[in-house]
Amino acid sequence: MELPFAESFKIKMIEPIRRSTREEREQWIKEAKYNLFNLSSDKVFIDLLTDSGTGAMSDRQWSEMMLGDESYAGATSYFKMKNAIKNILGFEYFLPTHQGRAAENVLFSVLVKAGDMVPGNSHFDTTKGHIEFRKAKAIDCTIAEAFDTALDHPFKGNVDIEKLDSVIKNNTDKVTFIVVTVTCNSSGGQPVSMQNLRDIRNVADKYGKMVVFDAARFAENAYFIKMREEGYKDKTIKQIVAEMFSYADVMTMSAKKDAIVNMGGFIGMRTEKLFKQASVFNIMFEGYVTYGGMSGRDMNALAQGLDEGTEFETLETRIKQVEYLGARLEEFGIPFQRPVGGHAIFVDTKKVLTHVPKEQYIAQTLGVELYIEAGVRAVEIGTILADRDPETRENRYPALEFLRMAIPRRVYTNNHMDVVAVALKNVFDRREHITKGFNIVYEAPIMRHFTVELEKA
Ligand code: F0G
Repeated sequence: MELPFAESFKIKMIEPIRRSTREEREQWIKEAKYNLFNLSSDKVFIDLLTDSGTGAMSDRQWSEMMLGDESYAGATSYFKMKNAIKNILGFEYFLPTHQGRAAENVLFSVLVKAGDMVPGNSHFDTTKGHIEFRKAKAIDCTIAEAFDTALDHPFKGNVDIEKLDSVIKNNTDKVTFIVVTVTCNSSGGQPVSMQNLRDIRNVADKYGKMVVFDAARFAENAYFIKMREEGYKDKTIKQIVAEMFSYADVMTMSAKKDAIVNMGGFIGMRTEKLFKQASVFNIMFEGYVTYGGMSGRDMNALAQGLDEGTEFETLETRIKQVEYLGARLEEFGIPFQRPVGGHAIFVDTKKVLTHVPKEQYIAQTLGVELYIEAGVRAVEIGTILADRDPETRENRYPALEFLRMAIPRRVYTNNHMDVVAVALKNVFDRREHITKGFNIVYEAPIMRHFTVELEKA
């Protein structure tokens, strides 16, 4: 008999979590103005708000924490991080930052100016925020297949090459670079194929443009290339990663994902010129060039995490857990973005809550219901997140209204996944009775989802 799959780690330290009652949760979510970000985490049983900075570090990473060098300039920890980035990702120059959006802020301070266009595959919200904040436009060139959640396509993060070409051809002087998000978070943690990365590189070269990877989940992307793309099954993750990055000029990284640290990020660069330009902003916004926003111990843990995070066993354990949850939901007939993504399940909420009008925030409504059902916290990737159009100030209604259940790395067991699946099933079973959503009573002018306040419609 073939042995079943099991995790490639055992557990050395645990953190208690607490179940609560439905009555408690109804009260708490009301007090939180129906915004799940406003809940204190002790009111959450299983927290799938994000996989960002919520992973469990390994014993090796914790050992590295003790070896951190906290020198202001030229710490050994800086060089550990530098070597890991050079050896695994192939970038000669780098700048540490406190997280991914800080890397975007620094890099875009050099590269983006008012009136620019930045084509890419469904830019993440902070990426888009930093582009729009500079009065430039993010142009989504994701393939059309990504917007049909029922369709199985191995690389729904891919860029539509024809569209990309025509956007650049028609706006050559407005485009400086293309952003490729690997994996593509906004389309469901969906990977970009190696062939697509190659094609993007060719378009960039044709017009003399740069390619910037938003690399938060690059290792999960590499895992999917290994599993799904012809010609890669016998390559190691590190070999695949090296080829992926060979097609990029620059990278920004939120290390809180695939480098499995709780805080940290960086920019990887190939030229001294860009490094020097970006250093000016790094010093202004983040800190001196050899620490950015990071402490020495965190740089050490990051270097170790980059190595572990690009090992096949780490990724297999992780993605099989996401697949496990997906399989349970499929059993219950709950619709989600197919195939299962790298870091999360994206529930297609328009197909679940068919009676809630889009003006009342469908995905948010399902998120609140799931919390009340079992204390499971997920996140809205829908109209609230999509924000208002910067010019018209009208709500932007995205093609898809997702409820994202992101799974922290090495934190929960499959028993937790079973609770999540059954909780969602219970909500799904009473979906016909859910007819009302929410109205906004307060919102910030940009990135409103974090602080929005709602009332029952
Ligand atoms: N790029 C991608 C693809 C991301 O998913 C994120 C963050 C960032 C950039 C920004 O990085 O948070 O370190 O500043 N995503 C988190 C999430 C917040 O929940 O998906 P950050």
